[in-house]
Amino acid sequence: MKTLACLMLCCGLMSWPLCGQPRYKDASLPVEERVEDLLECMTLEEKILQLNQYTLGASDNANNIEEVTARIPAGIGSLIYYEENPELRNGMQRRAMEQTRLGIPILFGYDVIHGFRTVYPISLAQACSWNTDLVREACDMAAAEARRSGVDWTFSPMIDVARDGRWGRISEGYGEDPYTNAAFCTASVEGYQGSDLSSSTQVAACLKHYVGYGASEAGRDYVYTEISRQTLWDTYLPPYEAGVRAGAATVMSSFNDISGTPATCNAYTLSKVLKGQWGFGGLVVSDWAAVPQLIPQGAAADRKEAARLAVNAGLDMDMVGHCYDNYLDSLVREGAVSEERIDDAVRRVLTLKFRLGLFERPYTGEVPADQRLLLPQNRELAERLAEESIVLLKNEGGLLPLQGQRTIAVLGPIVDAPGELLGSWSGHGRGEEVCPVRDALTEEFGGTSQVLFHAGCPFDGDDRSGFASALETAREADVVVLFMGERRGWSGENGSRSCIELPEIQEEFIVEMQKAGKPMVLVLSSGRPLALQRVEPLCDAIVEMWQPGVPGGRPVAGVLSGRVNPSGKLSVTFPRTTGQIPVYYNRRQSSRPRQGLYQDIPSTPLYEFGHGLSYTSFEYGDLKLSRESVTGGETLTAEISVTNTGERDGAETVHWFISDPACRITRPLRELKHFEKQVIPAGETRVFRFGIDPARDLSFVDSDGNRFLEPGDYYIMVKDRKVRLQVY
Ligand code: NOJ
Repeated sequence: MKTLACLMLCCGLMSWPLCGQPRYKDASLPVEERVEDLLECMTLEEKILQLNQYTLGASDNANNIEEVTARIPAGIGSLIYYEENPELRNGMQRRAMEQTRLGIPILFGYDVIHGFRTVYPISLAQACSWNTDLVREACDMAAAEARRSGVDWTFSPMIDVARDGRWGRISEGYGEDPYTNAAFCTASVEGYQGSDLSSSTQVAACLKHYVGYGASEAGRDYVYTEISRQTLWDTYLPPYEAGVRAGAATVMSSFNDISGTPATCNAYTLSKVLKGQWGFGGLVVSDWAAVPQLIPQGAAADRKEAARLAVNAGLDMDMVGHCYDNYLDSLVREGAVSEERIDDAVRRVLTLKFRLGLFERPYTGEVPADQRLLLPQNRELAERLAEESIVLLKNEGGLLPLQGQRTIAVLGPIVDAPGELLGSWSGHGRGEEVCPVRDALTEEFGGTSQVLFHAGCPFDGDDRSGFASALETAREADVVVLFMGERRGWSGENGSRSCIELPEIQEEFIVEMQKAGKPMVLVLSSGRPLALQRVEPLCDAIVEMWQPGVPGGRPVAGVLSGRVNPSGKLSVTFPRTTGQIPVYYNRRQSSRPRQGLYQDIPSTPLYEFGHGLSYTSFEYGDLKLSRESVTGGETLTAEISVTNTGERDGAETVHWFISDPACRITRPLRELKHFEKQVIPAGETRVFRFGIDPARDLSFVDSDGNRFLEPGDYYIMVKDRKVRLQVY
C-alpha cells in the first residue's frame, strides 16, 4: 500500500501535469525524457515484466517448443508473434494498453530471416550476389510485409562468420568472411530499419548471434566454441561492430559457450565490448531459453543463479526462459542484482518502444493480406536476387547455356519438391507459392525443346527403384540436367551433418546416369557448401542455385537457357571432402607452406571463395595505385580496369584484398577489404576503384580490441594482380 501511495504521489508530482496526461505520453518530448519519466512511475514488478519475452500464436518452428502457454501478463515486455495477420496482436496489445496501469505497448518480434511471406534466397546465397543494394531492398520489402502484419522487430540479420559447412546455420549467415558479413549486415540493417523506425513499413533489426556461434565444435549446434581473444576480434566481432555502427536497434546473444563463459552471461562481450567499447545503447535479448540453458552448460547451478549471471553480465531481456520473471525480483531485494542494472535494461526496452512509435500507434492497421503480402513487385525482387545469387561453378566446353538441344532430361529429387526450395527459417513462406523446377523448365524450354522429367532418386535412403527408368529417360535425351541436393530441414538451426558430400544414394544416381553417355549438368540446391570431389569429374557443368525461396526454379531455368547470365560468386569455400574442414580463404600461412599438405587429396579447396563463372569473359588490366607510399593519415586510390571480352553483357564483381606479410600479430594470407559489382556491356571496359584509408583498411586490432597501424609493406591484391604499398 505504502509503495502504491508513494508511486501515485511520485507520478502525480512528476508525471501528470495538472491539466492532462503523463509526460511520457507526450510525443513532442524527446525519447530520453519520456523514458525517464515512465521509468520513474514504474514499480519493480512492472519493470521486470518488461524484461521478458513470451510467445503468441501457433509456433511454426519445431525448435521453439513453447514452455508456458498459460496466461500472458498484459504488462509483458515482448512477445514472439507467430501469426501472419495482425488481429491477434492487436487484441493482445489492447490488453496491454487498456488493462495495465501505465499502458506500455508490447513489442512483437519474429524471425523474418529471408523474407516474411515473400521468401527470397537464404543469406548465404544472397552474399553470393555481392549486390548489397539488392539485399537492402529485399530487407526493406520484408520489413514492410512484416510490420504491416503485426511484427515490429525481426531477429535478423544473422552475421555469424561460419567456416564449417557441417554447421547447419551456415545457411543463415553471409559466409566465411568477416568483411562480407559486415557489408551485408550494414545493408540489411539499413533495409529493415530505414531512416525512421516509427514508419509503418520498417522494423527493428537484431544482430545475432552474438558472438562466435559459428565456431561450434565439429559443426554441431549449441555446443562449445573455443575462440581466442585474438580470433574473436579478428573474425567474429567485426560484423557486429559494423552492425552497431549502422544503427541496429538490438542484439541477440548466442547459445555457445565462448571458451568457458557462455555468451548469455559473458560480461566481456556484452558489457565491456558491446555496451562499453562500442557504446551500444540498444537492447540485448537472449536466444531462445538460453538463460536456463546456462545450467546444462555448467555455468549456473539453478535458474535463479542463471538469471543473476545473465542480467549482471548485461543481458537485458530473457527470451522465453522464465528466469527473469521468476527470480529478478528476489535477486534485487537480496542485493544480488542492482536496481540500476534493472533500470538500465528497462530503459533500453522502453527506448525501443518509443522509437518504434508504439506509444502513439500501438495497433497495426488491418490491411487485407493480398494488399501487403507477396505483391508482384516483391516476387519480382526476390527473383532478381535469386538470379544474382546463382553460382556457375563449372562449365566444361561451354555446355551452358543449353541451346539447340532437342530433348532435355531433367532428373533428381529437387524436380518436384518446391517446398524444399524455401530453405530454413522461411517465415510464413508456403511451398505451394514456390515455382516448382518442373514448371519453370517447362516454361523456359517448352517452346524449343522436349523436356522429360523424372525424379528417379530420393533425397536419401536406399530406394533405387527409380534408377533404371531414369536412365532410360537420360538415354532419350541430348543433355541430362540433374537437380540434386538438400532438403530445407538439413540446414538451419539444429541442422548439423557429419558429411557435406551429397548423400550416398544421390552420388550413386549421378554415377548411374553417366552411363547414358550424355553431357551432364548438375544443379545443386543446398543450404551449405557441398563437398563434391567424387561427383565433380562426372559432370560437365555445375550450378549452385542454393535455396532461392518463392522464385523456386525460375531463376535457375533462366541461367540454364541463357536468359540470365550468371554473376554470382561464392561467399564460402567449397571443400573437396568433409575432412578438409575448416578450409577458408583467409587463413594464416603455415611455417612450411610447401609441406604439411594432405597425402590423399590436394590441399586446395575444390572451389575457392570468390569463384564463379559467367557466359561472357572478362579481362583484367593492371592494378594501379595513385601513390606507392603513404603515411598512416593519408589516403590513396587503387584502380583496375575490367573489359568484357565476350559476346554478351555481364556483371563482374571485383574483390579487393590486402595482405601484410610481416606484422607483430600475424595476419591471414589475404583479407577482403572492399568489393564492387558492375554490369559491363559486351566489348566495353569499366574501371573499379578502392579508396584506401590505411587507418581503416590496413590497421588491425589486438586481442583487447585496440587498433594499430604498423609502418611497413602491404600488398593490394585483385585476383592474381598484386602491388606493393609502403606505409611509413
Ligand atoms: C532460436 C534461434 O537460435 C534464433 O536465431 C531465433 O531468433 C530464436 N530461436 C527465436 O525464434
